Amino acid sequence: MIQIQNLSKIYKTKNGEVNGVDNVTLSIEKGEIYGIVGYSGAGKSSLLRCINLLERPTSGHLTVDGKDLTLLRGEDLRLARLKIGMIFQHFYLISQKTVYENIAFALKAAKVPSKEMSIRVENLLEMVGLADKRDVYPSQLSGGQKQRVAIARALANNPKVLLCDEATSALDPTTTKSILNLLKKINQELNITIVLITHEMNVVKEICNRMAIMQDGRVIEEGAVYNIFARPKTDLAKEFIASVVNFDVPDTIAKSCTGPIVKVTFRGKVAGEGVISDTLQQFQVKGNFLHGSIEYIQELPLGIFVMELKGEEDEIKRALSYIKERDAQVEVLQDAI
Ligand SMILES: Nc1ncnc2c1ncn2[C@@H]1O[C@H](COP(=O)(O)OP(=O)(O)OP(=O)(O)O)[C@@H](O)[C@H]1O
Ligand SMILES: [Mg+2]
Repeated sequence: MIQIQNLSKIYKTKNGEVNGVDNVTLSIEKGEIYGIVGYSGAGKSSLLRCINLLERPTSGHLTVDGKDLTLLRGEDLRLARLKIGMIFQHFYLISQKTVYENIAFALKAAKVPSKEMSIRVENLLEMVGLADKRDVYPSQLSGGQKQRVAIARALANNPKVLLCDEATSALDPTTTKSILNLLKKINQELNITIVLITHEMNVVKEICNRMAIMQDGRVIEEGAVYNIFARPKTDLAKEFIASVVNFDVPDTIAKSCTGPIVKVTFRGKVAGEGVISDTLQQFQVKGNFLHGSIEYIQELPLGIFVMELKGEEDEIKRALSYIKERDAQVEVLQDAI
């Protein structure tokens, strides 16, 4: 649905050039919810704004639904952009207009006849769960409700793609969850491809199929969210994951351990199979659990356990190779003392 090829965006400022996006190549499939994470200044918004040409890329190509947007100008570009909706952290509703008028405004811009328009707006309000707020002004709405209006407005022209720039960053955790559920519903029921940028890994874990991690304008890691959680390659990926599932062992605890401390990660079905208890039973090894959880990512279990192993060195080695044979990943966090 979206092909980004060697895309760069260089900003010219009075202090010189700033590389907002640096040679990014990505492919986002139709019907996906694709997450882009990175710290502030990583280039997430710059990349997202290039996708609908709010920002014109300095170089590279960008194809959305088969059209190279960088080659379009004027009316052709305007029409292509109607098929890409966008929502923002701060909603950007028009405060002097009612909820109805805010949504209708997007349809007026597309010259939709007025009879059709009112049906469409009512349907959109229904879709986002705000039918009863039709005639109120944005100032009378909560943050979550404002974002729902912004979503309805973004969907007004039946877009194929919805771009979300930190759409939940101004919301509390419960409201965030309800907006993420709404995005999931839109993705599934309307088959809209969603590209979502965020600095919260939780958001990605909740609804994205695939993801990219950006740093200094570049994509430094990319792939299925599950695989990145299971086998992160870069330190930055590990850092983001630790913000959601943290398996650090406090120093005082680590110092009191004499056996090796290992982290065992099980992927997929095997996560629930009790491999660890099995292992501890079969070998002369005791496990002192320091952390443990089964995370569900896109409904697939990922089991992560951190434990100190106690026993004869050879027996521990045999136990660890047994675990590895069961398709688990074993990482020694601290050697035996
Ligand atoms: N209009 C602009 N003019 C000059 N530099 C810009 C402009 N927009 C962004 N930049 C620079 O480009 C880089 C990437 O910025 P961008 O806003 O894309 O980051 P971001 O990942 O979205 O950050 P945040 O999480 O804070 O929103 C930064 O160094 C920023 O200062
Ligand atoms: Mg940004």
